[in-house]
Order: sequence, then structure tokens, then C-alpha cells
Amino acid sequence: MSRRLALITGASSGIGLALAREYAANGWDLALVARREDRLRAQADQLQDQYGIDALVIPADLNDANAPQAILKAIEADDRQVDALINNAGFGLPGTYAQTQWQEQADFLQLMLTSYCELAHRVLPDMQARGFGRIINVASVAGLVPGTYGHTLYSAVKSALIKFSESLHLENKSTGVHVTAVCPGLTYSEFHDVNGTRDKVSQLPKYWWLSAEQVAEESYTASQANKAVIVPGLWWKFLTGLYKILPHGLALAITARQSAKLRNTETPASTDPR
Ligand SMILES: NC(=O)c1ccc[n+]([C@@H]2O[C@H](COP(=O)([O-])OP(=O)(O)OC[C@H]3O[C@@H](n4cnc5c(N)ncnc54)[C@H](OP(=O)(O)O)[C@@H]3O)[C@@H](O)[C@H]2O)c1
Repeated sequence: MSRRLALITGASSGIGLALAREYAANGWDLALVARREDRLRAQADQLQDQYGIDALVIPADLNDANAPQAILKAIEADDRQVDALINNAGFGLPGTYAQTQWQEQADFLQLMLTSYCELAHRVLPDMQARGFGRIINVASVAGLVPGTYGHTLYSAVKSALIKFSESLHLENKSTGVHVTAVCPGLTYSEFHDVNGTRDKVSQLPKYWWLSAEQVAEESYTASQANKAVIVPGLWWKFLTGLYKILPHGLALAITARQSAKLRNTETPASTDPR
């Protein structure tokens, strides 16, 4: 039997790249998706050499509504099937809501929510029929705490991904398909360079930070154990646990203060996050 295949979006850097390494180390073949093809090819070569797996490179821009279908067609054309779907690609759109163009928000929703839901919807029936599947939606602690000032739809979308994952998790209890929402806190990656908050977040204490490798390892373990929602790292488990017992007004006030310090509320310079 050939090895199982993990489709990972946003695999050219950060958490997605660490997840690709984690799946490869556990003997999975890979289908790697992002826009930067050169990076994907270099990483695919390296992972194939190191772990003796096969890695398919599928360059795609998930802002394009046709991308999910095209990605799955490319996998089918290679005579493969998706055994694990890791929805991870993403970025933070700076600015407050009214400062931004609608097209930027529409692209954000397409990438961060619609593409996740569509890919899951398209792969799920075959996973159910085979009695095996893994779906990970990379959400954020932002989806577990009140909305922030600036980067307006980010926490709303991450909340939606958590609820979506919980429902899928329940619907698939007896199907062999595991569905998990992963909610990382601050993680070393290119995320804060892309959204222009590196100088602000760099001032936070070191113990607030996770490595992408830790997030990937905890995500893999949680998915194999069929956990519905996980928060990697002790500090973020503690913090999100604390938020659950705080009165909502106090939680909102704390989030407002933190987000005013950490979010970039300047108007974005361009529609391209890179
Ligand atoms: N870093 C954190 O502190 C943190 C915390 C909580 C949650 N997260 C979540 O973790 C996920 C991964 O982020 P990261 O921290 O690893 O950031 P990152 O290093 O910037 O990686 C983002 C990935 O998404 C890809 N991507 C962005 N726009 C895309 C598009 N239009 N089409 C296809 N791929 C696209 C990027 O590849 P290309 O540029 O090559 O397309 C890159 O591979 C995101 O969903 C983010 O919201 C991050």
C-alpha cells in the first residue's frame, strides 16, 4: 500500500512548513500548497531526501475562488487521494474595518474561511467512504478570546473555524475522520513580518512565544488522538482558560488594551500581503 497523503496549505513557511516536516517525519507523503513555488520546490526536495517520502508541489493562490477545485484536480491527476487536509494558509489584514477596501476583506474571507470550508467539503465524502481521514483547521487563540481593535475579521474568522471544526468533529465521531481546530498563540513565523507588527510583538516576553515546530507536533498528536480543539503550549492553555472564567466586560477591556498595543491599525499599503 502506498503511503497516506497530507495536503497542507500555506506550506512555504512558518507553521505550514513545520507541519509538512512533522507529517513527513511520520511517514506521510505530502501535497504542498502556497503561492511561492520556488520555496515549495526547495522544501519538497529537502523533505523527500530527508524522509524518503514523495512531495507534490501545487502552486496556488487561495484568494482565487477556483483554487480549491484546481488543487484537488492536481492531486487526482497524480492518481492520489487526500488522507489528511491541513487548512493553514493565512495572514492578518492590518487596519480598522472602514479603513480597508472591501476587495481586501473579500479576499481575506475567501482565503481564511471559504477555502478552508470548500476544501473540507470536497474531501470529506471520500474520507468517510474510506473510513479514514484527518482534517486540521489552523485557527488561533484569537478565536477563543473577545474581538480585537483592528485586524477586524481575523478573530471573527478564527472563531468561525473553531465552531466549524467542532461541528465537523461531532458529525464524524463514528466515521474514522478526525477533525481538529488548532488554536496557536504567538508563534515564530513570517506572520508578523507580513502584517507589519514585528516591532510591536517583539517586545512581548519570550515565554509568550511558541515555535512552529511545537505547534506542528502538538497538532499532529491531537489530530491522531481525535481532539476537537487544542491550544498548544502551557502559557496559552492557562491564558485561554483564564479568559473563560473572566466576566465578559473585563475580558473585552483586557483584549482592547492588548490589541491597541499589538495590532497594526494603519491602512494597509497594498492588497498583496507579501
Ligand atoms: N504566527 C502566529 O503567531 C499565529 C498565531 C495563531 C494562528 N496563526 C495562523 O497560522 C497560520 C499559518 O501562519 P504562519 O504563522 O505560519 O504565517 P506565515 O509564516 O506567514 O505563513 C503563512 C502561509 O500562508 C501562505 N499564504 C498566504 N496567503 C496565501 C494565499 N493567498 N494563497 C496561498 N497561500 C497563502 C503563505 O505562502 P505564500 O506567501 O508562499 O503564498 C505561507 O506559506 C495562519 O492561518 C495564521 O492565521 C499564526
